[in-house]
Amino acid sequence: MSDLDNAVREIAAEMKARADRGAVARYIPELARVDPSAFGLAVATVDGEVVAAGDAEAPFSIQSVSKVFTLTLALGLVGDRLWRRVGREPSGNPFNSIVQLERERGVPRNPFINAGAITVTDVILSGHQPREALAEILRFLRFVAEDETVYIDKAVAASEKRTGFRNAALANYMKSFDRLDNPVDFVLGVYFHHCAIAMSCRQLAMAGRYLAAAGRHPTTGMSVVSPERARRINALMLTCGHYDGSGDFAFRVGLPGKSGVGGGILAVAPGKASIAVWSPGLDANGNSHLGALALEQLAKRMGWSVFGE
Ligand code: DON
Repeated sequence: MSDLDNAVREIAAEMKARADRGAVARYIPELARVDPSAFGLAVATVDGEVVAAGDAEAPFSIQSVSKVFTLTLALGLVGDRLWRRVGREPSGNPFNSIVQLERERGVPRNPFINAGAITVTDVILSGHQPREALAEILRFLRFVAEDETVYIDKAVAASEKRTGFRNAALANYMKSFDRLDNPVDFVLGVYFHHCAIAMSCRQLAMAGRYLAAAGRHPTTGMSVVSPERARRINALMLTCGHYDGSGDFAFRVGLPGKSGVGGGILAVAPGKASIAVWSPGLDANGNSHLGALALEQLAKRMGWSVFGE
């Protein structure tokens, strides 16, 4: 067995047995029903190896991890013009905060906080019906994951739509500054549905490979994004991917990562591997507690860090 095999198996076994698991997200009622004892880990290397352990085949709600893929699509559509609509700075605030938006006149700090991701969704929606925009996002995920079974969990989307008052506030607030081109209802509909995409750790690790492989789809060699764009998406994941926990994640793990309130994290070891971890219990910043710990251990054991060996 390879070092990677051993590391993945041992870390998954340790995490599954731990008592400190954080708290499952409750503000989206459907997510509150998820079993907090779940733990999955999958690593897809740029050489084509996939190593998985624990509950790595079970689909979970990827939530904000979807924002990495919508950012990729929006950059493909409008290129660097995206940066007129959304910033590239860490927010130092919770993911659903509204306070900075007033001072910065409806321009969100970065594409990963909710306001920024809603703006990115607006860009993808322009010129399309909501159904088409959503189909495009799903098609992209199925393509990069090489798996046609990736789906949208309609119950999760409906659950968030019923209770998504904060996101409605953010979207309406941005609309008041004339920062959204499409109707608020349409934008939120697409946003809630892409957050409700369900994937397993194996599928998510596969989907993230282009970010580890300089923008290439490793199986076909096709260019998904340019090497420069892959580097920049990774830079944003490192600086903003864990909201106001981004500094701590960079310090402990040393890799670009994007978390979601479903308890998933996608992390990228550039040139080496894409890693997906899932543990539903969250820390105070809304990031997976054991997910970050597992990544910290894996990065250390494998010598994977963007800051050196
Ligand atoms: O908009 C929301 O609140 C959720 N659909 C996504 C938030 C999220 O995943 C934040 N990540 N840790």
